[in-house]
Amino acid sequence: MGCPTMHALLRMTTPTMWAGHTQGGEPLRRDMPRIPLAKPFWDEECEMAAVAALSSGRWVKGPQAKAFGDEFAKWCGAIAAVPCQSGSAALWAAMRLLEIGPGDEVIVPGMTFIATATAVSLVGATPVFADIEENYWCICPDDVEAKITENTKAVIGVHIFGQPFSQRLRQICNDHNIALVEDAAQAHGTTLDGKMAGAIGDVACFSFFPSKNMAVGGEGGMITTTVPELAERMNRLVDHGRDDTLESVELGTNLRMSEVSAAIGRIQLKHLDDWISKRRANSESIVHETKTRGGGKHAWHQLCILADDPNEMISRFNNNGIDARVHYPIPCNRHQVYSGHMQHETSLPNCDNLAHRLVAIPVHPFLSQNDIEEINSILRL
Ligand SMILES: Cc1ncc(COP(=O)(O)O)c(C=O)c1O
Repeated sequence: MGCPTMHALLRMTTPTMWAGHTQGGEPLRRDMPRIPLAKPFWDEECEMAAVAALSSGRWVKGPQAKAFGDEFAKWCGAIAAVPCQSGSAALWAAMRLLEIGPGDEVIVPGMTFIATATAVSLVGATPVFADIEENYWCICPDDVEAKITENTKAVIGVHIFGQPFSQRLRQICNDHNIALVEDAAQAHGTTLDGKMAGAIGDVACFSFFPSKNMAVGGEGGMITTTVPELAERMNRLVDHGRDDTLESVELGTNLRMSEVSAAIGRIQLKHLDDWISKRRANSESIVHETKTRGGGKHAWHQLCILADDPNEMISRFNNNGIDARVHYPIPCNRHQVYSGHMQHETSLPNCDNLAHRLVAIPVHPFLSQNDIEEINSILRL
């Protein structure tokens, strides 16, 4: 018997086989159908789009990436969008776009995925860690204001778990003439005062990591902007800082998204509104007390529950076949990478009190009614 073809293998891949694989490695309970925290979407249309992109022979710098950027910008209301290789790459590019470098400070929340802060360090600037809000877990506007100095060039607000950051950030940045960057890696579909993530700040950065609200069949990201002068440079930055004549006019590198990823992304984008509606419906069916900000809409990338005893809660879920984990156990300033940072030992009280107690449980759009009932039954235990 010959080896199965790639197509046959893809068809043999059942939805449960995708479960728990977003971080690599084996699922925790190999032979049991677990309820995963994320379930990357793959169907025949994605497969056909991927194969068509490969068969076209145009693997990079082609029509798919251009169309994906245009469609994504239209979807979120930005004036332009450029696909790139990851959310982290998008954040790095955002720093370059805003000409942030040595001597500059950028205010970031103390509780977020580490890439929010390391993007600042990677351009030679200093991340200044601000505390988070007690109720909504996004960067605290009062602490941002307190930490602005003459060196502050930008604030990176993270729509953490899909929760929109405070409306006050925009005003604070305007008042101090500094840029507002949205880390929207977890926020496809988040809204604030009628604007979608991607169109709130000057620049926004999305991730298409497999667990995110939409994906591209691998690593991927998107940079969007609302500032006309930045739009053209955005294209340049992901392509060695080159202009139309192929001369490099500023420092950039190759951050381009491949055509096959963009083709998959375009298919997934068509489902995104529906998936976000389902996430919102699931968040309403699951019994929890997590708050949402007035004037905004949460996109429920993660449903995190504040637990007094996070280990007990995680065990309760895991032992019953449901994945759960803490996001993010260590505040960014306390990571080893920042052992030399002025704020390494500084307490950001809400970060220190909350970060290790926020337990993410499944809320993804592919949960069945039965899954939701099981989740609720564990929450009631
Ligand atoms: C808040 C936040 N920022 C940035 C990133 C980085 O995105 P990527 O993994 O695509 O580089 C992530 C990804 O998990 C994230 O959650």
